[in-house]
Amino acid sequence: MNKPFVYGMSVEGENFTDRELESKRLKLNFENGVNSILISPRRMGKTSLVKKVKSMIDDPNIKVVYMDIYKCRNEYDFYEKYASAIIQATSSKVEKMVESAKEFLMSVSPKIVYSPEPNTDFSLSLGLNFRANTPEDILDLPERIAKKRGFQIVVCIDEFQQIGEIPDTQTVQKTIRSVWQHHRHTSYCLFGSKQHLMTNLFYSRRMPFYQFGDMFFLKRIPTEKWVPFIAERFRHAGRHINEEQAEQICSTVENYSAYVQQLAWNVLAVTDDVVTEQAIREGVDATLAQVSPLFVEQTASLSAYQLNFLRAICRGYHDDFGKKEVASQFDFGSRSNLPKLKKALIERELIEHTETGYYIADPLFKLWFLREMI
Ligand SMILES: Nc1ncnc2c1ncn2[C@@H]1O[C@H](COP(=O)(O)OP(=O)(O)OP(=O)(O)O)[C@@H](O)[C@H]1O
Ligand SMILES: [Mg+2]
Repeated sequence: MNKPFVYGMSVEGENFTDRELESKRLKLNFENGVNSILISPRRMGKTSLVKKVKSMIDDPNIKVVYMDIYKCRNEYDFYEKYASAIIQATSSKVEKMVESAKEFLMSVSPKIVYSPEPNTDFSLSLGLNFRANTPEDILDLPERIAKKRGFQIVVCIDEFQQIGEIPDTQTVQKTIRSVWQHHRHTSYCLFGSKQHLMTNLFYSRRMPFYQFGDMFFLKRIPTEKWVPFIAERFRHAGRHINEEQAEQICSTVENYSAYVQQLAWNVLAVTDDVVTEQAIREGVDATLAQVSPLFVEQTASLSAYQLNFLRAICRGYHDDFGKKEVASQFDFGSRSNLPKLKKALIERELIEHTETGYYIADPLFKLWFLREMI
């Protein structure tokens, strides 16, 4: 049986809901060679959306390559991952991968590495020789393959913010951009979490990726989409939840995708038949218990002033922290300390800055903080 709720990994099929507009738009970009940049807070559904759009592409001449560069620690890790993902996704059979690697790259010794468990994936290890293949040659790989084979290629790079973290990142970004901007048969979909890192990469005029593509922020899935989804998943598991209770699950976690599924699962776990108010309360407690070790760790190293800043936000203050009413209740050190406090908390992803002020980034963090730290 399919699990009723999934929250630790990307989702598909019956575990996926909504995103109709976003999938349509992204699909259109993929089909027309338009670069896309997708940003959202953590666990909102970027990976799931891109994988869904990948599966929606039915034109055999469009090859969609998906790669995750979270573990890339330097530019060479990135080039290796990039090249091997592209060769894999554009080869029709496993045997063709080695041939294709030898055709498009210089002095490589490709190996197919099977994972030890049966029926699981394999990966292609290229052992790239960076003297024979310059970064520019490697970055040009999809375009060369696309031209030769008559394909159109879409390269999707997950956790792209990692590019901003590698040594000598500015130079690497310049090199990447200078090669990619000439591509006519290859387009890119770059996405990632750590919103402040992603926005640094794409929003600043000084940065090489400024205006690289069609940018969109993945919004929360609206309650009217969540409610029937939650009800259906409960039904599927032989339980019943009413509309108001499903809405309550959404509002408790402010429609934050992964948390909606996690809380729904925790409510289902304590329900034999029909959901009760007690079950929802227990579900919330169980969810908080699961996430609190992380929150304890995230707050352990905060200064008293930083904690006070979080307290002020939780108490409903979102801007003008220097005014008397706020400063008399919460000690921030001094007024001149405020920019530093905001910056540090944004970098730790504990708060976010929107047009209307500063907010706690994670709805469960806010719930936990209100219970434990005030
Ligand atoms: N379209 C969706 N329908 C239902 N649930 C979703 C959807 N998208 C995301 N979720 C929920 O959010 C969780 C995280 O999804 P996903 O990994 O796609 O997000 P992400 O934004 O890529 O996360 P990360 O920031 O960790 O990379 C899923 O396990 C699922 O619980
Ligand atoms: Mg992801």
